[in-house]
Amino acid sequence: MAPIKAALLGFGTVGQGVYEALKTHREQLQNVLGKEVVIEGILVKDRSKKRELDEHVLITTDFDEILNIDGLEVVFEAIVGEEPGFTYLSRALDKGCHVITANKVMFAKHGRSLLDKAEALGRYVGYEATTAGGTPIIRSISQLLQVNEIHAVEAILNGTSNYILTNMREKGLPFHDVLVSAQELGYAEADPASDIEGHDAFYKLMILSELSFGETPKWEDVERKGITEVTREQISVFKDWGYKVKHLARIRRDRDQFISSVKPVLVDADHPLYGVEDVQNAITVETSLAGKVTVQGAGAGRLPTASAMVEDLTYVLQPQPVTRKKKTEQHADNNSESTDFTTVGEYVVIGSSVSFHGTDDVQILKQEIKEEHVFLLIECQVSTATLLKENPELAVYEVAGKEKNKKVEQEQKDVLLKKVTNL
Ligand SMILES: NC(=O)c1ccc[n+]([C@@H]2O[C@H](COP(=O)([O-])OP(=O)(O)OC[C@H]3O[C@@H](n4cnc5c(N)ncnc54)[C@H](OP(=O)(O)O)[C@@H]3O)[C@@H](O)[C@H]2O)c1
Repeated sequence: MAPIKAALLGFGTVGQGVYEALKTHREQLQNVLGKEVVIEGILVKDRSKKRELDEHVLITTDFDEILNIDGLEVVFEAIVGEEPGFTYLSRALDKGCHVITANKVMFAKHGRSLLDKAEALGRYVGYEATTAGGTPIIRSISQLLQVNEIHAVEAILNGTSNYILTNMREKGLPFHDVLVSAQELGYAEADPASDIEGHDAFYKLMILSELSFGETPKWEDVERKGITEVTREQISVFKDWGYKVKHLARIRRDRDQFISSVKPVLVDADHPLYGVEDVQNAITVETSLAGKVTVQGAGAGRLPTASAMVEDLTYVLQPQPVTRKKKTEQHADNNSESTDFTTVGEYVVIGSSVSFHGTDDVQILKQEIKEEHVFLLIECQVSTATLLKENPELAVYEVAGKEKNKKVEQEQKDVLLKKVTNL
């Protein structure tokens, strides 16, 4: 039987992984697809680099040569940045190919447009590898959405940040020392900004939002913070209090509004992501019927990412499940009491000299002074963003999963806000 002809855009970490996985798992793929999959062409930036490839493979810097491969059916994309990836995949769809991408920056921005084009053309867009590498989170959410509504997604989506926070806590080391060791081990890029400043997790969260809710919040409305300001002194107090700091990407839909952030948050042992350590990724999805579902696994790396792309390939020739619901199709039944209730949460607030006028409504649950810093665990009703806006000198960490709905009248809310921001 004639093989499935495929092309690879990019032959770096991920591209080479896909090439290798297609060879090492040839038989398994042939059993599933009924045909062999053959890479016929590879697009690169620098043609002069030495590459270990089968003789028949076309290697080129000209995308037209790839599109001109006779009978090309599938294009895998693993290059970097928004462009030229988006243009290449649009053209590949127009040409009648299925496309499979690992490129989160491109897909966060242009995913909807590619999915719409593919739907119109009866083609398939695989993007499992864009989010949490080898974990099957895109397929899991797609499957859950067949019947369930998704209410919220909470996730550790950046392995580098998780590795740094885990090792700062376990070894008592400062941020910079662990970052250097992560770079030596190949867990962090030479330029780690996208990982440690939260951009990488942000793009992945936007991809999960589009899939789960059929839309994203306005990007500028999402609170985004990296892990660079987390200190080992803070981590040591959090540890004594039973918390770990995790860099969490979170989105919840409450009626027509999104509550969304990407930032360091405290979790206790009851939280589903408490035990997710080192470079692991994990995603908890809160659903209408299935309750909380957590998927955990390798968030990046050559073979886990290649696995996601090759798994996508097995869907190419199969009927596709519905993967999105438009906003209007969602039931606005979650948090239906939220008009009358306000959310009260727990926060750890850290400052050099914090004086606090507690009341029954703003409660200090715990306090400690360590190395001239005052640590307060408080319960109150405002968000970290509000606290920080009013008190930029403070460090504020939200404690995940401690939100409660309390009835608070508007007048009380105003008083509360004033009291909290007077810390
Ligand atoms: N690394 C991971 O673990 C991982 C995990 C999930 C998703 N991803 C995503 O997968 C994509 C690839 O990542 P990677 O780590 O494999 O990157 P990489 O090692 O830097 O490889 C990038 C490849 O793309 C080629 N390339 C770059 N710009 C190009 C252009 N304009 N035209 C044609 N080819 C171009 C490069 O060609 P040359 O070889 O000639 O330089 C190289 O082969 C990225 O979007 C990344 O975000 C990576």
